[in-house]
Amino acid sequence: MITSKLPNVGTTIFTTMSQLAAETGAINLSQGFPDFDGPDELREALARAVMAGHNQYAPMAGLPALREQVALKIQSLYQRQVSADSEVTITPGATQAIFCAIHAVIRTGDEVIVFDPCYDSYEPAVELAGGVCIHQPLSQPNFSIDWQKLADAITPRTRMIVLNTPHNPSGALIDRADLERLAALIRDRDIYLLSDEVYEHLVFDGHEHVSVLRHEELYQRAFVISSFGKTYHVTGWKTGYVVAPPALTAELRKVHQYVSFTGVTPLQWALAEFMEAHPEHVRELPGFYQAKRDLFCDLLSGSRFGVSRAAGTYFQLADYSAIRPDLDDVAMAQWLTREHGVASIPISVFYQSPPADLRLVRFCFAKREETLRQAAARLCAI
Ligand SMILES: Cc1ncc(COP(=O)(O)O)c(C=O)c1O
Repeated sequence: MITSKLPNVGTTIFTTMSQLAAETGAINLSQGFPDFDGPDELREALARAVMAGHNQYAPMAGLPALREQVALKIQSLYQRQVSADSEVTITPGATQAIFCAIHAVIRTGDEVIVFDPCYDSYEPAVELAGGVCIHQPLSQPNFSIDWQKLADAITPRTRMIVLNTPHNPSGALIDRADLERLAALIRDRDIYLLSDEVYEHLVFDGHEHVSVLRHEELYQRAFVISSFGKTYHVTGWKTGYVVAPPALTAELRKVHQYVSFTGVTPLQWALAEFMEAHPEHVRELPGFYQAKRDLFCDLLSGSRFGVSRAAGTYFQLADYSAIRPDLDDVAMAQWLTREHGVASIPISVFYQSPPADLRLVRFCFAKREETLRQAAARLCAI
């Protein structure tokens, strides 16, 4: 008998709900991916890259032209000059970036603080590195950080804090004051920061994305991670990047080198070409997704779901306590899929200890208008 190194890991809820949606023919607003394609020019650039023969290994750290585009974007959006050579690394997806950042610094017995509800890939990576996750619940109803509780959770073993802004699943954002508080809290301590910013361009209502890249002191101990898949509507391309100061980048690359060695070559050529030709894409994204959020929320205002508009990401939480308060959120998500033909994600799965009265499910609104209208019509009929 094999003794599992990850005994608590099974099939993820994303796979389970997408499968249930497929079996029942439900509209799938569960897993976070668009039901529309990335830009034609981007896809054409990929075809051209393949036909032009860009099909052998890219350099370990990523294609220089793509790293350069990332550095230019960071300079333009966050006013930080990073070295494409020594601070930017392209990875096969943000997930691999997270894994490598954690493995670069976490050792046996180290503690990593994560804020619940949190994305599911952090904990297995920490466990495989020999560390342990300390789960710190975000405060309700705004999913904000409880600074006193965070201060109390820090011990001499704390080696990393994982931030995620804009936050999946709540859509909450951190602000500049949050970064100042965090800096004050971990100053003079040997604590790294992993800042998961894969939804960096999905920030609404005129808010700014408060990237750790804007904060000089915090950046010096940070791995800042993003995902081209989210930004260019191509989640299946599984290409992301990490920005970190040179010493941290050097350690991260030691791990990345032996996890995958490098990312997929023609994808990197296509992304570099598209980023150079269309720097406006990232500036237009907030408006693009805000229109989808508003359409979905306006339509849901005719339903019995309680909705407080997401400040960021392409996820919208909905409170169903006026509909089926008797069901926990896993049962609710299944009932919605089977009986009403709309698949969602129960957010309790993002917690170590979910609050007992949690009555929230997460819908993904990265969908075509007709999909959102159809889904909303079904939800309004409940
Ligand atoms: C918060 C968060 N981090 C990381 C990822 C992974 O991104 P990628 O598909 O680039 O690996 C996701 C994807 O859903 C996410 O929601």
